[in-house]
Amino acid sequence: MSSEPLPPLSTWARNIAPSPTLAVDAKAKALMAAGEDVCSFAAGEPDFDTPQHIKDACIAALQAGKTKYVATAGIEELRKAIAESYAANVGLGVAPAQVVVSPGGKFTCYLAIMATCSPGDEVIIPAPYWVSYPEMVKLAGAVPRPVLATDKAGFKIRPEDLEAAVTPRTRLLILNSPSNPTGAVYTRAELQALMDVAVRKNLYVLSDEIYEKLVYDGLKTTCLATLGPEAEARTLVASGFSKTYSMTGWRLGTLVAPAPIAKAAAELQSQMSSNATSFAQYGALAALREKEKTAASLERMLAAFDRRRRLLHAGLTAIPGVSCVLAQGAFYLFPNISSFGLGSMEFCERLLEREKVAAVPGSAFGAEGYLRLSYATSDEIITKGIARLANFCGSLKA
Ligand SMILES: Cc1ncc(COP(=O)(O)O)c(C=O)c1O
Repeated sequence: MSSEPLPPLSTWARNIAPSPTLAVDAKAKALMAAGEDVCSFAAGEPDFDTPQHIKDACIAALQAGKTKYVATAGIEELRKAIAESYAANVGLGVAPAQVVVSPGGKFTCYLAIMATCSPGDEVIIPAPYWVSYPEMVKLAGAVPRPVLATDKAGFKIRPEDLEAAVTPRTRLLILNSPSNPTGAVYTRAELQALMDVAVRKNLYVLSDEIYEKLVYDGLKTTCLATLGPEAEARTLVASGFSKTYSMTGWRLGTLVAPAPIAKAAAELQSQMSSNATSFAQYGALAALREKEKTAASLERMLAAFDRRRRLLHAGLTAIPGVSCVLAQGAFYLFPNISSFGLGSMEFCERLLEREKVAAVPGSAFGAEGYLRLSYATSDEIITKGIARLANFCGSLKA
């Protein structure tokens, strides 16, 4: 045996920042498992079970022996159903060949980046951003260029901010509306203004619309590819089944893109993972085909989220020193805690230690001075957690 130490691990392995949201969630769960009474606002997933008809379809597929490799880009029936749902829901004509079903929305985003970016290319990422975008961009050898939008701007970048960040190396813009972590939802006009810049500067756009159905106050989201032929030609729409249908563990994401881009993404997937789980895809098919049952489940979930959103917002804004935008999408609020003069990481660590409240620091999302709180948790936890947070903030002010 050689006495030399092993060579270092790769630059990819050494440079990756592990997901801080999953880390906080894991820490909160470990404390709970040890018997601590934790109020966790860290979850990035609905606290509802997957609707029964979706589970039943998956079980039936398993029993019927749908347990083998299937087409890399997804079973034909599901790709067709996804294409039809885009036509029916947003009026976008999509052929099944434009659809790629992947093992999770996260992987869908990674494929979209890998399909469009080469080493050295720059990618504009509005901040606060979902934690995985910059890391995925780096894994592709490309360079993340965050553009910050604060709470004063409703956490939305303006066309002039985008324009100022574009360089000759910019290849891709990533948009995520409704947003994780802020819950912000861009209007159609705002998206159109950003798309005008993307067209003028000849950028690809990855539009991560995974929270597309989780909106409140009667809002409707805009699918970016519907903003005209120029938009359609350059937009890669990422979405998936995790959030809308409470299927986070199923690992099913979707990409809709012009056929040559979808083909490239499927070819990348063919070497990186092969098909998404075969029998899970039959569950997803039931989610799209059994529309009434699916709509009823979604409506119930949305009503609960809306109630909790208001409860959490009212609680937060009643705490002296905390301000918070009442976001209209996803299941997150992103309160401003900068008045306490603590870094968001230290704030979260002390909050968890002292009051057993788990929140994710804004710094993880490229925005210092904020917390991300998920309201995908019970009214009871929200009420109790807010009281503890108020206590903690009071102690800082004292
Ligand atoms: C903005 C955003 N995009 C994509 C995903 C990926 O979801 P999944 O991989 O569970 O389908 C998430 C999950 O947290 C998300 O918040």
